[in-house]
Amino acid sequence: MEIIELDPADGDLVSGAYDVMVASHKADHPENPAPHRGSFVAGLSYPPPDQDEAHFVAVEDGRVVATMGIGLPNRSNLHFGWAWGSVHPEHRRKGIGSALLEHFIAYAREHGRTELTLDTHMAWENGVERAKAGRSFLEKHGFKLALTTINRSCAVDALAADTEQALLDKARAAAGDDYEIISWIGRTPEELVETMARIDSTILAEVPLGDLELEPETIDAELKRAKQDRTEAMGLKVVQTVARYRGSGEVVANTCVFLHDDGEFPDAYQGITIVDKDHRGHRLGLLLKLENLRLLRENFPHLRAIWTDNADVNAPMIDINVTLGYEIVDANGEFLRKFEA
Ligand SMILES: CC(C)(COP(=O)(O)OP(=O)(O)OC[C@H]1O[C@@H](n2cnc3c(N)ncnc32)[C@H](O)[C@@H]1OP(=O)(O)O)[C@@H](O)C(=O)NCCC(=O)NCCS
Repeated sequence: MEIIELDPADGDLVSGAYDVMVASHKADHPENPAPHRGSFVAGLSYPPPDQDEAHFVAVEDGRVVATMGIGLPNRSNLHFGWAWGSVHPEHRRKGIGSALLEHFIAYAREHGRTELTLDTHMAWENGVERAKAGRSFLEKHGFKLALTTINRSCAVDALAADTEQALLDKARAAAGDDYEIISWIGRTPEELVETMARIDSTILAEVPLGDLELEPETIDAELKRAKQDRTEAMGLKVVQTVARYRGSGEVVANTCVFLHDDGEFPDAYQGITIVDKDHRGHRLGLLLKLENLRLLRENFPHLRAIWTDNADVNAPMIDINVTLGYEIVDANGEFLRKFEA
């Protein structure tokens, strides 16, 4: 078995890696959204602007048997590194996963990273079954559970039309006239980029992170635009709704959903939903999500479901999602191992 850096131009290796992802998805967590070939391939050549990435495959007898991506933040959180990947179900328990994990640790350590994480699907109460392999594997290698997020999904038409309308009316009444609700599909309107960058910069300080010591990332307008370039390069579209406080002109609440813009992939992913501390308690979270859902349904009739993951302790966000009809599927365990500097 050989570990090779994945060259995005090597079509056979890229296809082999994608096939491993598909086989693992089918064996390990078939209820979750499937890997998307176009986005995977595009992502290999187009890393996020705030993260350096490297991709590796394990090859045995000329066939790709495992795949791994490594992400190293390059602006803030320079102590941190994470990896993702899987071993083909027919090639497990032969030490391939361990070899890749050691490769990740060596690579990240060489780049000065001291806090390394990987995640794995886990079962959660009222959800579907999940194998314990990922957790056992990571614990065997000295990683400890640092953050649990629960994956929920919701049909785009989960609520009866009159229930949805009643919720929307109530949320609109609670928000009152102080907020202008603005929605768009695609790139952030240029006049909102600065204020959106400001609210995006608060995300890491506001979402529960368990034992992950991540500092808030400062997102400026330039980085915000570069992130949007990457979203487009990946063939993803964003559907977004924000609330602008009339008193200050600033965006104080935001929700967004990402989808594959190919007219057929049925699953969409909920991105961040955030309401500025000073503007909580006005039902802005629920209001924005409902407005955004309507926009999504009207413009992308091929979509069937939206997926979201919330920290298990994030009660206010989970309350909103349950109201909207989200149901538990499984959980994600983020496992952390710390090294000496
Ligand atoms: C987790 C995973 C990467 C392990 O790959 P692998 O090549 O089978 O792992 P290894 O053969 O190196 O196993 C090393 C040790 O992990 C533990 N382990 C691995 N699979 C296990 C299982 N099914 N049950 C219990 N322990 C397991 C064992 O301690 C094992 O040592 P042993 O075989 O001597 O008992 C693989 O099962 C997988 O791809 N799962 C889906 C993706 C995932 O959850 N990834 C998590 C890490 S990113």
